[in-house]
Amino acid sequence: MQPSGLLMAAALMCSACAAHVMTAPANAGSERCSRAAAVRMMSADGGGAAPLLDVSGLCATVADKPILKGLNLQVKRGEVHAIMGPNGSGKSTLSKVLVGHPSYEVTGGDVSYRGDDLLDNEPEERAQQGIFLAFQYPVEIPGVSNSDFLRLAVNKRRGALGLEEYDPIEFLGVLAEKMETVGMSPDFLGRDVNSGFSGGEKKRNEILQMALLEP
Ligand SMILES: Nc1ncnc2c1ncn2[C@@H]1O[C@H](COP(=O)(O)OP(=O)(O)O)[C@@H](O)[C@H]1O
Ligand SMILES: [Mg+2]
Repeated sequence: MQPSGLLMAAALMCSACAAHVMTAPANAGSERCSRAAAVRMMSADGGGAAPLLDVSGLCATVADKPILKGLNLQVKRGEVHAIMGPNGSGKSTLSKVLVGHPSYEVTGGDVSYRGDDLLDNEPEERAQQGIFLAFQYPVEIPGVSNSDFLRLAVNKRRGALGLEEYDPIEFLGVLAEKMETVGMSPDFLGRDVNSGFSGGEKKRNEILQMALLEP
């Protein structure tokens, strides 16, 4: 499963935003894990507000291979960042480290999300706090109904926000509205998660998840 770094970053945005593009050289950073090596973007507002996401000197390895070597990135509320780089430079690695993929080991640096230490939390806690990773290749889960899956995920997030959970009937109304927003036919209500979906339908289903979870 390859997540999309771009969509992960997009999940941290709101609609009325200043857009930024951050370009970084392959394996941004020096050979040592150094805090000064990566590119840092300044926000359009001149840097007044506290960042929503603050990645500082992040170093990570996968299969004992150092991939992230001192990455710095600040994302403030309302900003959109697009991270671009050659194949294999570590974009997906950054996304997977931020969501807590167990194969990726953080060997240095810090990540704070809304002022808390993100790396201290389990992946499901990060998701409940509002981190969302859209997959580059969404997985099919035959036997699991898409609407049940979405309702349980949304209710977990609502619980974490101190909101009342939706009952199944109530959720169908919310789901129908969001499906219309993302241009998904009601025919998909009865389908299993991504099961038999075309590539484009899977992507649309990822966007539906994002629209419902409001990360
Ligand atoms: N599970 C893994 N085992 C071994 N190497 C990996 C694994 N995941 C990623 N890598 C390696 O880490 C490097 C960065 O990969 P990745 O973050 O997917 O790059 P990008 O998304 O920028 O194209 C690549 O060299 C890739 O082969
Ligand atoms: Mg990638």
